[in-house]
Amino acid sequence: MSTLFAATLTLILSALVPLSSANIHINKCRSYCGNITIDYPFALEQGCGHPGFRDLLFCMNDVLMFHISSGSYRVLEIDYAYRALTLHEPHMSTCDTMVLGGKGNGFAIEQWRAPYFNPTADNVFMLIRCSARSPLFQGFPGQHLPCRNVSGMGCEEYGQCPSWSLVGRKRVGTMYGSGPPECCAVAFQSIKVINLTKLECEGYASAYSLAPLRIDGPKEWSYGIRVKYSVQGNDEFCRACEATGGTCGYGTDGVRQLCMCGSMNSTSNCDSVGSSSSRISWSLTDLLAGFCILLSIWTTISHK
Ligand SMILES: *[C@@H]1O[C@H](CO)[C@@H](O)[C@H](O)[C@H]1NC(C)=O
Ligand SMILES: *[C@@H]1O[C@H](CO)[C@@H](O)[C@H](O)[C@H]1NC(C)=O
Ligand SMILES: *[C@@H]1O[C@H](CO)[C@@H](O)[C@H](O)[C@H]1NC(C)=O
Ligand SMILES: *[C@@H]1O[C@H](CO)[C@@H](O)[C@H](O)[C@H]1NC(C)=O
Repeated sequence: MSTLFAATLTLILSALVPLSSANIHINKCRSYCGNITIDYPFALEQGCGHPGFRDLLFCMNDVLMFHISSGSYRVLEIDYAYRALTLHEPHMSTCDTMVLGGKGNGFAIEQWRAPYFNPTADNVFMLIRCSARSPLFQGFPGQHLPCRNVSGMGCEEYGQCPSWSLVGRKRVGTMYGSGPPECCAVAFQSIKVINLTKLECEGYASAYSLAPLRIDGPKEWSYGIRVKYSVQGNDEFCRACEATGGTCGYGTDGVRQLCMCGSMNSTSNCDSVGSSSSRISWSLTDLLAGFCILLSIWTTISHK
């Protein structure tokens, strides 16, 4: 009986040997920063994720940072279901604090990255104390200012915040009067670049509303920049890659997408890395099944 057992064991073990070099799918690109999950198209590691999202996120002491041309922001949340992320930065004014001096980041993104990121349509930027020479107020003689309410949020209400009592609020109008309004609310889409230097503004606040719309007043608004992200096209590449057990990444050129298939990289998906390697692409389930068979044989034999 013991020779039969040894023979069986050898047989099974030799059948399992290819597993050591096989492609057991572990997504080496998925990671965490603090309690935020980093997953495709985002990544912390070079070569992981979508090329449009490279050199973007950095994790420092469990704080996730988002870095674009206008500066660094703290990432409060990544919402994969709605493809949105929420950003914050210390020079952004809120209902409780007012930061003047033109130090705020605003929001401006590199041209090559712009197709991938857009503040959401219901995110309001409230520009504070912009000079009369500001491009905001030029080119609209006698016309309405670009300032408006966005998703029910605007400067009239924001002006009631305690933060304004710190600096003294003079006028928050929407029409030309004795000078420019102290606060002008815009949607990102109307001016595309929120650059306090260029707009000659002293500060800014940003708030967003998540459906269903809240109208509880500025104290209840969510302050931060809500940014919609998208991978260009419908990302067939990554879906095909993941469907064949691969992990999506990109090559050293930082442009071309790659499918990482264990020990191999493919320019399409893991079914096409070569017939020999695809035949031994075992999954973790296969390994477990093999182990269970081994275990059941072992118990059967040892009970005799
Ligand atoms: C993550 O942790 C922060 C505090 O460190 C907390 O405010 C936040 O709600 C947490 N987020 C999730 C998704 O658990
Ligand atoms: C596959 O691509 C990734 C990301 O570019 C790289 O880190 C890795 O070394 C590559 N692996 C092989 C086997 O070429
Ligand atoms: C903001 O505008 C200033 C002045 O026009 C310019 O020097 C600076 O590079 C701009 N910043 C960004 C991030 O585009
Ligand atoms: C914005 O909303 C407030 C309060 O609902 C309203 O009083 C104000 O006239 C609106 N402003 C503009 C520019 O539509």
